[in-house]
Amino acid sequence: MSLREQVITEFQRRFGEAPTTVARAPGRVNLIGEHTDYNDGFVMPMAINRAVWIALRPRLDPYVVVYSCDMDEVAEFSVLEMVKGRHSQWAEYIKGVAWSMQEAGLTLKGWDGVIAGDVPIGAGLSSSAAVEMAAARAFGHTSGIAWQPVEAAKMGQKTENEWIGVNSGIMDQTISAGGVEDNALLIDCRWLTLTPVPLPPETAVVIMDTMTRRELIGSEYNVRREQCETAAKFFNVPALRDVNPAQIEAVKDLLEDVVYRRAKHVVTENARTLEAADVMRAGDAVQLGLLMNASHASLRDDFEVTNNALNVIVEIAQAQPACYGARMTGGGFGGCAVALVKLSEAEAFASAVTAEYEKRQSRTPAIYVSTATDGASISPEVSA
Ligand code: GLA
Repeated sequence: MSLREQVITEFQRRFGEAPTTVARAPGRVNLIGEHTDYNDGFVMPMAINRAVWIALRPRLDPYVVVYSCDMDEVAEFSVLEMVKGRHSQWAEYIKGVAWSMQEAGLTLKGWDGVIAGDVPIGAGLSSSAAVEMAAARAFGHTSGIAWQPVEAAKMGQKTENEWIGVNSGIMDQTISAGGVEDNALLIDCRWLTLTPVPLPPETAVVIMDTMTRRELIGSEYNVRREQCETAAKFFNVPALRDVNPAQIEAVKDLLEDVVYRRAKHVVTENARTLEAADVMRAGDAVQLGLLMNASHASLRDDFEVTNNALNVIVEIAQAQPACYGARMTGGGFGGCAVALVKLSEAEAFASAVTAEYEKRQSRTPAIYVSTATDGASISPEVSA
């Protein structure tokens, strides 16, 4: 049974009738452009074929009553009583979205729902952004709000920053909201413009979960952000987006070494991401792969957000003949890497990486071959 069928069936069982609609929002993987979003820079993520689904029907009162199949738990709250922290984390994301939508001046109505997902939690594939964007679509449906992906993404980020307390950028929610089938999205994180860029022909995107989990992400992530802000202040610009690689090299000796290396990563990564868009438009998998490899080296040596497991799995992937390029993806310190691979050899690639990683790390990775999917959607009507 698909997840869509699962939430519809469970809804019928619990609420005695069919849901009026099903909302869906995908996780994401970032092909290139890492730790650039909060520097007003460029990112190139795609929405993946794993998503969060919510079957729902509107309520006449302000209550949201939602059952999570994954947690086997019901959460209930009123959109008129916005109190933090009373619910399990998954429900806090939904409640936080209700809060941020109301902060944006929207009037919300409640709903009954059933939620389930297959984006692995905590792996760096943005399961939380998927819950947020699915919830935004659910509230949009019950409250007559037209879908605007960028606005929804901003509300999702506000939820993350101010309700959950995670100081993340705008990438994850934007791609979950605005993804385009068969394309990655070049996102300009300053102006929030979204440009679909096709994946090179005959390639597969392979996600490799090291099964190590990020530690200290909160504090390390915030330290990186501060170092980037320090560098931007040095140049007297709003963000590192406004600095180019030559400018960084020119003042290398004036900057503290660690600030120099952080800034160097960001400005070279922005350049690589724009170049990636060009080579993708030209269908050039070889060049895209080389840019991904260079991105990994920069994240490992200059930005220092990899861990041993990520470096090992990327090294293994890069050594496979079918691989154009590979890098860590997401926040780092654990979680997933991503590889661009010859389509016809994707399965063999996955087996080879699994075997070699097991040998070297005594751990089994999880491997997902993913197509690029559309962003958050809602079914016009449900037939069970
Ligand atoms: C996390 C954050 C994103 C982004 C990446 C790094 O995934 O949620 O906003 O900053 O790290 O590129």
